[in-house]
Amino acid sequence: MCGIVGYIGHRQAVPVLLEGLHRLEYRGYDSAGLALPHRGKARVCKTQGRVQDLRDKADTTTLRGTAGIAHTRWATHGEPSDANAHPHTDVSGRIAVVHNGIVENAEQLRAELTALGIDLVSDTDTEVIAHLVARELDGSESLEDAVRTALHRVRGTYGLLVLDARRPAELVVARNGSPIVLGVGDGEMFVASDVAALVHHTQRVVFLDDGELATIRDSEFRTSTLGVESEQTDKIPTTIDMVAEDYALGGFPDFMRKEIAEQGEAVRRALRGRLDDRFATAHLGGLNMDARELRSISKVVFLGCGSAYYAGQLGAQLIEELARIPATAEPASEFRYRNPVVDPDALYVAISQSGETLDTLAAVQELQRKGGRVIGAVNAVGSAIARQCGAGVFLHAGPEISVASTKALTNMTVSFTMLGLLLGRVRDLSAADGHRIVDGLRALPGAIDQVLTDEDAISEIAHRYAKARSMFFIGRVRAWPVAREGAQKLKEVSYVHAEAYQASELKHGPLALIDQEMPSVVIVPDDELLAKNLSTIEQIKARGGPVIAVTNADLPADAADEVIRVPRVAPELDPMLLTIPLQLLAYHTAIALGRDVDKPRNLAKSVTVE
Ligand code: F6R
Repeated sequence: MCGIVGYIGHRQAVPVLLEGLHRLEYRGYDSAGLALPHRGKARVCKTQGRVQDLRDKADTTTLRGTAGIAHTRWATHGEPSDANAHPHTDVSGRIAVVHNGIVENAEQLRAELTALGIDLVSDTDTEVIAHLVARELDGSESLEDAVRTALHRVRGTYGLLVLDARRPAELVVARNGSPIVLGVGDGEMFVASDVAALVHHTQRVVFLDDGELATIRDSEFRTSTLGVESEQTDKIPTTIDMVAEDYALGGFPDFMRKEIAEQGEAVRRALRGRLDDRFATAHLGGLNMDARELRSISKVVFLGCGSAYYAGQLGAQLIEELARIPATAEPASEFRYRNPVVDPDALYVAISQSGETLDTLAAVQELQRKGGRVIGAVNAVGSAIARQCGAGVFLHAGPEISVASTKALTNMTVSFTMLGLLLGRVRDLSAADGHRIVDGLRALPGAIDQVLTDEDAISEIAHRYAKARSMFFIGRVRAWPVAREGAQKLKEVSYVHAEAYQASELKHGPLALIDQEMPSVVIVPDDELLAKNLSTIEQIKARGGPVIAVTNADLPADAADEVIRVPRVAPELDPMLLTIPLQLLAYHTAIALGRDVDKPRNLAKSVTVE
């Protein structure tokens, strides 16, 4: 959510900044801008629209220099417009800032600045920071000191990058709640909100911690704490194993399509070294728990937002089925605000692809404050949630760029299956069932690849129903979270209204909406509820509603208007395979409607605001 890029070194800054913004555009894409120092003033170029619009507007003959800052925005305060685009400057034009996060006391600070005769030119919360830093410059020994003192007045979250045009040889960055990573090059330094913008230049990175600030120059960086008693912090660059190709389309038309196709490989990575054929269990070293501790867990609670919450619902079912421990899932955004009773014997699992989602991070902090035991199920190594939890399961899905999550969700469910297996095998799960799950997990990547071979048929179905004004997604028990995720994906990327319902709830109200114009996607696992699901399909068809069945069962001929079949590896793993066609259905519906699948309107990849 908002992407920040900074550069200081020996190259022309503008191409580096634009390239970095392009890599971070999935974080926000309603406006973009950059600033370079020029004879004591910040020369700013910014525009409403995409990074390409900024590229078109940026005049590289005048925007010259080897240091600069840049931003791609997802609007929070103030509508998308040229004026509200970052960077923001102070009145003199000397200070320029780009910011990711929210200044909670912006209104109060705006009022104070206005009372001092300062004319604010945007509706953003960020602009106040530029003015506050400028006002602190006089009494400060350095830009770093001015930024530190200014930030003492700011309440809220920030990943912040500041340029003082009279000090073109340095930039200052600060972090509180929004990610900032430094890239260490050879005689050049980079700043970004995400390593995606750095891997083309360097693998040596430094993750700033919350409450940390850094001054960077072309060949050095210095980090310190933001507190009044500022202390130097010693950060040593780490080498990341991501490379530029991980972030490239590699021949695919867009990242969503690429990431759907990568799922078999992503699952293989998540399983690598974790399955134990001898004892029919899983090894999750990142949990840091021995058998006694695992046995002491009396309940498992999954917390996540959006699709990660639906993955948590699947996780809760898996834990109950495999380990027979009570398990639930709850949106982290609700949990954090409802003063939850925290059970010291429960295991809480914070789920997040990005590791940045603010609501999930806040839920973890609330849990820890109340003495809860919380682990992370996170994709982004080094992210805020991973670090806050300190223990957990990394998803190993690889970078996920498309705003709509696909492969990370599959790996969440794979990880929860391993967690269920582990918790089950220290309790009552038989060795025979353990082996069945281990074998099922091993067969999963091949089965996913098999589903993907049906893409053309699924695409045809998507094109046939793309004009529907609304769709139902129906499932029960194991298939209920699958239906929720299917509806979510369709809404998100195609903007077709979709609603998920438990099959048995249809007759309590929503059946009134069924007619020839309202297709229903019914998820039908081949389980003990098959007959019930077939009767749900009958109820829909009797009212003239078209039915698309997604199933691994042999349905009677003419049971549904369209049938999408998936293979089976183990009944407990059905939800994962039943989800894949729904991703393709959403994707091809979006393509049929001409949507920008990787960058759906109004959304951004990591939601670092409330
Ligand atoms: C849906 C989607 C979102 C995310 C949610 C949580 O496709 O991507 O609903 O699942 O914003 O994001 P993370 O997993 O990064 O915490």
